[in-house]
Amino acid sequence: MISFILNDSDYTTSLPPGASTLDLLRGEALLTGTREGCREGDCGACTVLLGIPVDTGTEYMALNSCILPVAELQGRHLVTIEGITPEQGLSAVQEAFVDEGASQCGFCTPGMVMSITGYLLSTQSPDLEAAIDSLGGNICRCTGYVSVRSAAGEIVGRTGPSPAVDPASARHLEFLVEKNVIPGYFLGIRDRLRSMRGPGTGDGHGTGIPVAGGTDLFAAGGPGLRDSTMEFLLNDSSLGGIETADGWVRLGAAVTVSRLISSGVFRGMGDLQGSLRLVSSTQVRNRATIGGNIVNASPIGDLAIILLALRAYIETGRGPGGSRRLALRDLYLGYKELDLRKGEIISAVSFPAHEPSRGYSFEKVSMRRHLDIASVNSAAAILVSEGTIREADISAGGVAPVPLYLSDTSAMLAGMPVTADTVQSAAESAMGEASPIDDVRGSARYKRVLLGRLVKSHFLKLFPGILDPAALL
Ligand SMILES: Cc1cc2nc3c(=O)[nH]c(=O)nc-3n(C[C@H](O)[C@H](O)[C@H](O)COP(=O)(O)OP(=O)(O)OC[C@H]3O[C@@H](n4cnc5c(N)ncnc54)[C@H](O)[C@@H]3O)c2cc1C
Ligand code: FES
Ligand code: FES
Repeated sequence: MISFILNDSDYTTSLPPGASTLDLLRGEALLTGTREGCREGDCGACTVLLGIPVDTGTEYMALNSCILPVAELQGRHLVTIEGITPEQGLSAVQEAFVDEGASQCGFCTPGMVMSITGYLLSTQSPDLEAAIDSLGGNICRCTGYVSVRSAAGEIVGRTGPSPAVDPASARHLEFLVEKNVIPGYFLGIRDRLRSMRGPGTGDGHGTGIPVAGGTDLFAAGGPGLRDSTMEFLLNDSSLGGIETADGWVRLGAAVTVSRLISSGVFRGMGDLQGSLRLVSSTQVRNRATIGGNIVNASPIGDLAIILLALRAYIETGRGPGGSRRLALRDLYLGYKELDLRKGEIISAVSFPAHEPSRGYSFEKVSMRRHLDIASVNSAAAILVSEGTIREADISAGGVAPVPLYLSDTSAMLAGMPVTADTVQSAAESAMGEASPIDDVRGSARYKRVLLGRLVKSHFLKLFPGILDPAALL
């Protein structure tokens, strides 16, 4: 049995832990305001809020209910569009949508309203750009986004800054109740959750399918997943730490992309920090983990590509034969084939901490800027002194069966001067190391040429005063 608070009511379900929260809402609880669109985390129509008790209060985040297993609801507050609608009238966000004509057929509207409400719950100082960013995972087929943006601007203006010091605090919830963003019953939720146990980590025997954020697993679905035995890694606090010590950064495998962004670990490392916002949408980033990205072994996974250029190591835990440490670049043996033993999980990832003398760059080309995986992506970390490249690490995705560390290109660059000829040779070497295939994201030829361009782009970005873009055309 899984027990939680659904809007303002206590709720218990006997659905299996791997059942989808969307199915619970629409099929069992008959709360049909949460829409079913793609069932793959791609459209945002099914967006709900999950409130998780933390030391300072309750942290709310927007999630896609279609790829959220019900096991994650235990001891938490699940909020749907019905749960933010006041008994009389509309919430402030709903009013802004009406005032700005931001809804036509209305199919996407509950998801959009939940995303903006989730954004307001997660910040004390709302701004328009971030409010629009919070809608990056919500697709509308008919209204068009201009009026949705106006509604976002309207609500940010109406809400204004919160006096609270922490968005999880009771003071912030009180502020949002005053502003009619959420109903008053939210103020009693923290006390009600206190008497409930939190979600477990599974059978504890290491025999179930490891589920971290589940964004890959549940988007792919597949027969039997719903009723499988699972290990819920996101609820294992030993996998959630972020530490910097002795010149190394160590990230627990269950650290989510959102957590990575808020931790600022990549701050000062070129455009790596900002690039994390190119990973999917807020709803997916709130669940997607580092370990899941690595083990999913998608040749175009963004985090794996960044970590390869950072010379990352992985640590394994709970596997037969104890824990191991190995270079990430040695983990990938072939398409979706990893040097991981049966039952072994990744417990952490570590990489050398930021060095001011090293330049970092990430490039991602995809069909849409947000909510899309790459056609080709690439990361670079380059150490230069006195005009000579001392160390270079370049990786590329979408050009091989695995996330690819460009070992020949990286080795070739050491000792070379930063000149247009060097960059031209690096681009040609990278294209030679790649073995892309034709697929929906582009022809093999296109991807190979694109990789050459991305390598040049790294250098142009990192050495703007030294390299002439015209010489690299
Ligand atoms: C709509 C959508 C958009 C996306 N966009 C992007 C994008 O822009 N960029 C990008 O890189 N990815 C993207 N993804 C893919 C996905 O979100 C990421 O790969 C994410 O980091 C996976 O993490 P997870 O925790 O959700 O993995 P899960 O789905 O939980 O797990 C993935 C696999 O890894 C295994 N696993 C998980 N953690 C561990 C561990 N610690 N040890 C051993 N095995 C483990 C699981 O058993 C499973 O086989 C997108 C996904 C969706 C649904
Ligand atoms: S139904 Fe499309 S994201 Fe869930
Ligand atoms: S209002 Fe019709 S899909 Fe957005």
